[in-house]
Amino acid sequence: MLFDERPKVNRSDLFDRERELNELKEKLDKPLLLLTGIRRIGKTSVLNVFLNESKTPFILIDARSLKRNYSVEDLYKLIARSLSSSLSNIYEVLKNIKRIKILGNEIEIAWRGKDYVSLSELFDELNSKRVIVAVDEAQLLRGPNSIEIKNAIAHSYDYNRNITFILTGSEAGLLYQFLGIKDQNSPLFGRSYHEVKLERFDKETSKRFLEKGFSEANFNVEQKIIDEAVDEFDGIVGWLTYFGSRWISGLRDINEVKKIAISIAKSEIINACRGRSTRLLTALKCIAKGSDSWSSLRSCIESVEGRTISSSVLDNVIRSLEDLSLIKAYSFLDKIYAEAAKEV
Ligand SMILES: Nc1ncnc2c1ncn2[C@@H]1O[C@H](COP(=O)(O)OP(=O)(O)OP(=O)(O)O)[C@@H](O)[C@H]1O
Ligand SMILES: [Mg+2]
Repeated sequence: MLFDERPKVNRSDLFDRERELNELKEKLDKPLLLLTGIRRIGKTSVLNVFLNESKTPFILIDARSLKRNYSVEDLYKLIARSLSSSLSNIYEVLKNIKRIKILGNEIEIAWRGKDYVSLSELFDELNSKRVIVAVDEAQLLRGPNSIEIKNAIAHSYDYNRNITFILTGSEAGLLYQFLGIKDQNSPLFGRSYHEVKLERFDKETSKRFLEKGFSEANFNVEQKIIDEAVDEFDGIVGWLTYFGSRWISGLRDINEVKKIAISIAKSEIINACRGRSTRLLTALKCIAKGSDSWSSLRSCIESVEGRTISSSVLDNVIRSLEDLSLIKAYSFLDKIYAEAAKEV
């Protein structure tokens, strides 16, 4: 079902994205692949479909379940859980690793004590067979304890020919920061990667997506509504799916659907900026209300705050918003987010 709101798993439910799936397949001999794109563009869906179709055993780690400033213990628990849920794919690889215990469907790994196995050692063991290690939303691995996983990826990159890492990220700037490819102090300094970028659907593809989704659900929807939805949701497949799903479950008012989408986006913006300066929210609001240049953004923030701000502070604000993949060149990457930012 195209309008199923969960990330897709099967190719039959995935619309388009042939090119991206082929690109991942072709580049699977590389040690490090990135799958990037803004929120709701379909990263998890493409990753799931790719992994399920690939004949290669894989582990899928969902970094969203890590809390900010996670501990080493949290990291190991996440890896253990990920290994457990990938057990059917990877049993043959894991069963010979002495310091990993397989208890029924669960994996136990120790992060200290005599049975301790470091992540680098774990990857060395996994390397006995061809394996994909996929991390969804890998920028969330940033934090005071990220060195452990970064060292392990760097070590594996250099020594383990059988392992390919696929990292997704909706905040591409933060993902590059996490990897630190250009940072001399990062263990991954100077390594190369291949990046597959997921772009929004063009108008024609968005239209075909909605038409196919409605026809699959046996709904006849006026062309006018489809065209309006194509304009409002701007090629972002997650919003198009959300619209289709709401519509078939009875909410037949596009403005109402949009309102809910905006409120979801609002809480996501607040969440993304949590723990950072409130100036980021002020800047987003200014941009949403029309500040479309460096100087107009500066005067808008200054007028809201009632004080002058330095050039370097403003540059940092802009960079942070770009790293969060909220804006580029003073405009929002998602129209719904632009609407939501007016209300933050
Ligand atoms: N190619 C596609 N065909 C059909 N539905 C899709 C496609 N790509 C994504 N979707 C739908 O769009 C929504 C968002 O997809 P998904 O969660 O994969 O995106 P994402 O980029 O991982 O989002 P996030 O950044 O929030 O993690 C889901 O409802 C999913 O089912
Ligand atoms: Mg996702």
